[in-house]
Amino acid sequence: MKNTALITGITGQDGAYLAAFLLGKGYSVHGMRLYEATPYTQRLDALSAEYPDHFHLHYGDVTDSGCLYRLLSQIKPDEVYNLAALSHVRVSFELPEAAANINALGTLRLLEALRGLGSKARFYQASSSEMFGNAPAPQNENTPFQPCSPYAASKLYAYWLVRTYRDSYGMHASNGILFNHESPHRGEEFVTRKITRSIAGMVAGSHDILKLGNLDARRDWGHARDYVEGMWLMLQSLQPGDYVLATGETRSVREFAEAAFSCMGMPMIWSGAGLQEKGLCRRTGRTLIEIDEALFRPAEVNCLCGDATKARTVLGWTPTTNFTTLVHEMVKADLDEICANDMKAVSYVHAVA
Ligand code: GDD
Repeated sequence: MKNTALITGITGQDGAYLAAFLLGKGYSVHGMRLYEATPYTQRLDALSAEYPDHFHLHYGDVTDSGCLYRLLSQIKPDEVYNLAALSHVRVSFELPEAAANINALGTLRLLEALRGLGSKARFYQASSSEMFGNAPAPQNENTPFQPCSPYAASKLYAYWLVRTYRDSYGMHASNGILFNHESPHRGEEFVTRKITRSIAGMVAGSHDILKLGNLDARRDWGHARDYVEGMWLMLQSLQPGDYVLATGETRSVREFAEAAFSCMGMPMIWSGAGLQEKGLCRRTGRTLIEIDEALFRPAEVNCLCGDATKARTVLGWTPTTNFTTLVHEMVKADLDEICANDMKAVSYVHAVA
């Protein structure tokens, strides 16, 4: 019999990749989406068309216990992937209570519903490298957490709940401590996609200058496609556990921007300092990037770089997409989208290709 999976947060980047991955493995996949997220189900339409009998979308909300009980008792999943989150770190400073309600208590509601129903489903929790805060890199499963945002604090609460339910009730519940993972499906509010979307907009003439916040924050950026496989591997393991998924390489926002602009034949130089710093096109002198103070966070995580030795040795997981390939894929996808309906962009892309 085929396995059945429930994915909360199906409309996000990871939801789309995970659903495709599980459907490809023969799973029956149920996705939970917010009513408000209906406009964002476009990328799931292809999956619905390809797997009409095995892919099902449900309205649901991790802030609604009744609906979680109802969906879990109807679907009877073998595996539950909790990807639902208020996932933007800066926004969590504006909406700290919402972050706690969705990220922390949402996980509690799911775990309690599974326990209440006596479910034997295996449980994956989307924990985050943000929980490490400014703990020295490289960070692994033994690094003490130092959360420095409402988002990170809410994720840490959920992380400990998962461990508590595993130890107290014998649940097969695992935490994936995922470092940043990107793709062409990444939301435009995250810095990598913001950069690649803006470049495509500049090429099409619809975007002028890219405004960014802290250029010197460093992140360990991998490809989301690799990371959803890691989530699945955690639930296939005989024993539940907590695993870091990361590439082991760290780069600054500045380096990501340089790599992305250089894909388009726009090598960069920097001039000025602090809030007056600008990123210029080395060939033409055009201003490409300016700093916007409003995009800084009240507290910043300066450097994330993960050590995924445990995932590699226990699960056999390794990332397959390197930084350069990731940047190229994202830039190309945004250009392709813009070129699909903009002839000016098409001729520019041909000129620099
Ligand atoms: N979003 C954004 N927008 N970030 C900017 C900008 C900007 O204009 N300018 C600079 N940054 C910096 C941020 O200050 C941060 O240091 C870095 O770029 C990355 O920001 P995000 O892309 O928003 O991701 P994140 O690292 O805060 O969080 C992501 O990764 C976590 C895993 O480590 C999110 O996906 C989280 O949900 C996830 O848990």
